[in-house]
Amino acid sequence: MVEETDRLLSVGQGEFTLDRYPRLAREMLRAWDAADEYVLNHLTELGVAGGSGLVVNDGFGALTVALAGASSAPWAVQMQSDSWLAHAGTRANLEANEIDVDGVAMLDPLAEPAPFDALLFKVPRSLALLEDQLQRLRPHLRPDTVIVGAGMVKQIHTSTLQLCERFIGPTRTSLARRKARLIHCTLDATLDVPTNPKPTQYRLDDTKLELSNHAALFSREQLDVGTRFLLEHLPRSPQARCIVDLGCGNGVLGIVAGRHHRQAALVFTDESAMAIASARENVAAAFDDERDITFHWTDGLGGVAADTADLILCNPPFHQQQIVGDAVSWRMFQQARKVLQPGGSLWVVGNRHLGYHTKLRRLFGNGEIIASNPKFVILKATKRG
Ligand SMILES: C[S@@+](CC[C@H](N)C(=O)[O-])C[C@H]1O[C@@H](n2cnc3c(N)ncnc32)[C@H](O)[C@@H]1O
Repeated sequence: MVEETDRLLSVGQGEFTLDRYPRLAREMLRAWDAADEYVLNHLTELGVAGGSGLVVNDGFGALTVALAGASSAPWAVQMQSDSWLAHAGTRANLEANEIDVDGVAMLDPLAEPAPFDALLFKVPRSLALLEDQLQRLRPHLRPDTVIVGAGMVKQIHTSTLQLCERFIGPTRTSLARRKARLIHCTLDATLDVPTNPKPTQYRLDDTKLELSNHAALFSREQLDVGTRFLLEHLPRSPQARCIVDLGCGNGVLGIVAGRHHRQAALVFTDESAMAIASARENVAAAFDDERDITFHWTDGLGGVAADTADLILCNPPFHQQQIVGDAVSWRMFQQARKVLQPGGSLWVVGNRHLGYHTKLRRLFGNGEIIASNPKFVILKATKRG
């Protein structure tokens, strides 16, 4: 379990108390990594103090908090992340360290940043997201912008550095320190590269629907096999008044269910801002009727009222930021139980080995197998009155 000392980040900018978000009673992991410490101490060693910085992909706000709260010369910080949990965690950590939250601009990945002198980016999980971010950021860089990437050695590959070379300019890496590395880039203003990334698209079988997917999306080139399996077994409940697509990605489950249930209100939730943006675009293209449709950029079902849903559809995530585990699916199932109306049901697809069956039985007291194949299983759990 994380001890008090594991909550204290001590770097050149000062000492800060940091927690992951949401804060768990028996948290096992720190809220920052060696790459955060490396980049912060590197800035101190360079003598860079104060100024304006754009921090991209901060996990739970370690970089944002340390820079905005630097004891000698606080920075004007903008933080940009696709993750709602990263935004919420950063806000909570700014507050915990008594740093003015309103003084930090919090941007989603599609927003335009204001001018900045330094760009600090954590290497994201997917190369596609990094490429998208570098393309969008390039027009905001100058030859004298300080550009530093940071990541753990295992997250930085030749392809990562090639992307930096291609979209920014000359790139070199630092020596590894506690298994972390820095990436130093300088803008080459002469490069002729695209700066307006386009979402990928694929056609949904047997429909005219082209589904659009921003860079951070899960399975952005084609329909996921698990999702396809759930689509083949989607329930038909003519009486359903409210259907929720939990962790909606591009919105495919909610869109197809919505086509089967013309009267039902639809709710789409996801922790990724790009997922919500893609779901919005796909929903707008899929429905031309006036129906009640809402989108929530949130953790799980945060913001969705209790006892309102008849049907919740979910292909749960198996990682959150860089961490693989089942904490998120467990939280989603608990929230689903709250949001369902008595008699309503949660439909989940997952790899057989993930053991969702046991979790659902523990929470709902029931769990029915709707279909299974060698790889996947579809489970249904009903909220009893
Ligand atoms: C396996 S994908 C499924 C996406 C889509 N429903 C599909 O079937 O193609 C899981 C989705 O859950 C989202 N997600 C991850 N953590 C989440 C959280 N804490 N709350 C809500 N959504 C989350 C991810 O962004 C991703 O879009």
